[in-house]
Amino acid sequence: MMRIKILLTLILFTTFFYTGCKNQLLSDLIIYENKADSIINLMTIDEKIGQLSLFTSDWSTTGPTMRKDYIDLIKQGKAGNIFNAYTVDYVKDLQKIAMEETRMHIPMLFGYDVIHGHRTIFPIPLAQASSWDTAAIEKAERIAAIEATAEGLNWTFAPMVDLARDPRWGRVMEGSGEDTWLGGLIAAARVRGFQGSDLSDKSSMLACVKHFAAYGAPQGGRDYNTVDMSERSLYEWYLPVYKSAINAGVASVMTSFNEIAGIPSTSNKWLLTDLLHNEWKFKGFVVTDYSSINELINHGVAVDLSEAASLSINAGVDMDMQGSAFVSHLDDLVKSGKVSEETLNSAVKRILVAKYELGLFDDPYKYCDKKREKEEIMRPEYLDFAREFAGKSCVLLKNEKGTLPVREDIKTLAVIGPLADSKADMLGFWSAAGQWEKCVTLLEGINNKVNGTVKILSAKGCNVNDDNTSGINQAVSVARRADFVILALGESKEMSGESASRTDIDLPGVQIELARAVIRTGKPVAVVLFNGRPLAIQELDEIAPAILDAWFGGTQAGNGIADVLFGDVNPSGKLTMTFPRNVGQIPIFYNTKNTGRPINPEKPYEKFKSNYLDSPNTPLYPFGYGLSYTSFKYSVISLNKTGFQKDDHITASVDITNTGDRDGEEIAQLYVYDLVGDVTRPLKELKGFKKVLIEKGKTVSVTFTLSPSDLSYYHTDMSFSFDPGDFELFIGPNSSEGSSVSFSIL
Ligand code: GLC
Repeated sequence: MMRIKILLTLILFTTFFYTGCKNQLLSDLIIYENKADSIINLMTIDEKIGQLSLFTSDWSTTGPTMRKDYIDLIKQGKAGNIFNAYTVDYVKDLQKIAMEETRMHIPMLFGYDVIHGHRTIFPIPLAQASSWDTAAIEKAERIAAIEATAEGLNWTFAPMVDLARDPRWGRVMEGSGEDTWLGGLIAAARVRGFQGSDLSDKSSMLACVKHFAAYGAPQGGRDYNTVDMSERSLYEWYLPVYKSAINAGVASVMTSFNEIAGIPSTSNKWLLTDLLHNEWKFKGFVVTDYSSINELINHGVAVDLSEAASLSINAGVDMDMQGSAFVSHLDDLVKSGKVSEETLNSAVKRILVAKYELGLFDDPYKYCDKKREKEEIMRPEYLDFAREFAGKSCVLLKNEKGTLPVREDIKTLAVIGPLADSKADMLGFWSAAGQWEKCVTLLEGINNKVNGTVKILSAKGCNVNDDNTSGINQAVSVARRADFVILALGESKEMSGESASRTDIDLPGVQIELARAVIRTGKPVAVVLFNGRPLAIQELDEIAPAILDAWFGGTQAGNGIADVLFGDVNPSGKLTMTFPRNVGQIPIFYNTKNTGRPINPEKPYEKFKSNYLDSPNTPLYPFGYGLSYTSFKYSVISLNKTGFQKDDHITASVDITNTGDRDGEEIAQLYVYDLVGDVTRPLKELKGFKKVLIEKGKTVSVTFTLSPSDLSYYHTDMSFSFDPGDFELFIGPNSSEGSSVSFSIL
């Protein structure tokens, strides 16, 4: 009886506590909105427009800089927000201008692209996603927020959550890959990391989910290019990742440069008002991407900047990033009635509320704490975690005959390649305030690891991306003197990221010639790949005994990779984006449809089937793929039932045995296939994963739970629901392997 009483008390307390928190947030919002209204009533139209304007300082510009007079604009009350400015001294100087030299004394937001770390740089987001470790991802963003706020920042233009199925697009490095469900989990983790549990905490900063919407689907994989897709694809695959960030409480949204089906996102009223505010109930504010209002003229939907400004604010844009569109034309637009005073005031209110939520009105200098700035940057524990995360993000793509980890008895090790000792490249693109000179290169990490017990030779062999082969012979002679060779190959950091699309995604330059020559020596060779995207490395895969994908691992890259190469860390990463065999297969992703003429895997080139004459349909490495230094055996799947009603759920279990000689983490994945739908359904959809540590020789049971709502999809009438019917359920190590069982929704 007592136990029941305790349980009831706990349930009641939890319910009241949760409801209380929710009510508290709601009451705070109402208080802030009332306060904002009182300020708005005192503001001139120019001062209101100033709050809707965001200008870059001239520290690190991320686009075409159009104005150098941002300090005058602050004084005139025309710049209510600044980006690309940090350090306590600089932020304090600028904030003082807003607080002491303007009439309204409204504190400014200070934004920056804190994408994968601020000073301590973590692996690029696509690498982090390969860890499938949402707790680690959240922790990395939390550290980034602590460092960024310690240097005066209170707003980050992250997380970038754009679903991406085309590796020619350079910004795939910035997201979580090709799966909507996993991308949504990661998006929410990133928002929690940046915003913390209380936005008014001095280590919390506004997050900004971007780029809304579907920026990751440009035709040809060419950055900023046209996006055109069905409404169903938009809803089924591309929109849910943004919705996950909204549900996690993200404070702001950034519009994307691209159009969707003829309507640029920055002037898309359905997207920014009907969907975002009215249907999704988003309470935060909308900022444009860099000068994307001005780009409405190039898009051909606005005759001039005045019309562009009118279109965007009437569509639901609140803040103009760097375009000077609002500050130049909004005054006249309001006076002429083309933009209502109500629209203007609503935009100002959303931005003032965000400043209240941060606590900026209580203390405009709360992020200007010299003591925090001194104590919170690149703390040893942050660097330790960066090293751990660099290792966790590595994906072992090939390891013939146990080439890796490096044998303990070697006497001489050669480290060869254009990325063997490149500090700057370890940061990856979007490295914020990261300092390349503090990065640990692969060569340095290996030297740190062996600590003089092994002779280390090195040679560059060739450059990353030119046709100079003059260094290859010297590299070969170095390889001949070694017992083991590490080949450091891949892209430079500038070959992915913004404005970095590629039509050929194989190894650049003459690196494959270097690889052929070194591998021909017959020495044991392991390739360490540095890349910001999936690479079509078909020949390298054929000739290299081992390939470890290290992506761009950040400040501690070299140490993290060395931990894996020498076996102190057993690689556990798995791809969240498919690696194609060749560019011709793109777009290629795991959750494809069966089509009316599916191939028979036994006869991949059979005529009149959906295939190619010159390539298999299968990828080089599939979504969810990654090897370990140990091996895992999956049992058959057991279901607690094979049929369930709409208000029921099903559990699926497997036993996974570590059949190798070392402990290891395994990411078991669950996929489902809806055999017959109201519309065609993908052959596989990721609906669950478990990352489990399994000691050598041991067996762990892993259980997944599925409810019918997990199987909902958009029907012909775009209603989102599930149907009775038959399904296949797969559990395995990646999207291409694993056993299956059948079940039904009755
Ligand atoms: C860039 C990017 C965007 C970034 C912004 C500010 O053009 O598209 O992701 O946040 O400008 O730097």
